[in-house]
Amino acid sequence: MKKPESFPSHTYFVFLTGAGISKESGLDTFRENGGLWAEHNINDIATPEAFEKKPDLVQKFYNMRRAELAKAFPNDAHKALERLEKTREGKIIIITQNVDNLHERAGSKKVIHMHGSLEKALCTACRARFQATPILGQQSVCPECKSVGAVRPDIVWFGEMPYHLNDILDALSHCLLFVAIGTSSRVHPAASFVQKAPYAYKIEINVEKTPATPFFDEHLCGTASDLVPKLVDDLLSICK
Ligand code: OAD
Repeated sequence: MKKPESFPSHTYFVFLTGAGISKESGLDTFRENGGLWAEHNINDIATPEAFEKKPDLVQKFYNMRRAELAKAFPNDAHKALERLEKTREGKIIIITQNVDNLHERAGSKKVIHMHGSLEKALCTACRARFQATPILGQQSVCPECKSVGAVRPDIVWFGEMPYHLNDILDALSHCLLFVAIGTSSRVHPAASFVQKAPYAYKIEINVEKTPATPFFDEHLCGTASDLVPKLVDDLLSICK
């Protein structure tokens, strides 16, 4: 598809973000050299079965992620998306695979956390969701049903259904611009979202090509903190 010369103000833009957008905030990615899944076995950490077998190990991993997030700040890429949202209020949807809160802390309002959030906990006994404390463990008590030992991070693990898929597919079916930022496009269903946006001009921002690159109209090679502010400037200039 040829890049549109302008976008009417009522049209939707969808941004899909992955771990690469938060890397320059100091948070680890998963699949790069030295990433989280290079150091830890997914099956020991990120499945419901792992939590049943070794809850302490799983809780420790996510307690570490929460501690690292507490030291991190939004970078220029997160801030640029908020700048765009300010001028196209209600028309920017961020779908993030990230469990950090850096989009919200940059000020973005419409953020869909398809893989859950480090800020939330989930009770496996009564399914209540509530604010996570910085340290979760088997001693944690569910504030709703008072169960002990049933509180887990509210993270979507392998084998579980991502959150908000209907809202996501609806947004993709309407949007005129789809931008994937800092995702390896190796985890489904997010990896195939680019194929679910029939009317969108599609841009990928990444430091390297991915298996989804052939489905994009444009691949911008570079870091998110450099390229996202430039893309936002460009969009603001053609969206007047
Ligand atoms: P990955 O670690 O798989 O991919 C990160 C991507 O970011 C890679 O393609 C890098 O090339 C790219 N990247 C690195 N630094 C960058 C930068 N500064 N600017 C732009 N791009 C950069 O992370 P995700 O694709 O987010 O799921 O992984 C998807 C899911 O797999 C995660 O949500 C997580 C994981 O298992 C769960 O935990 C459920």
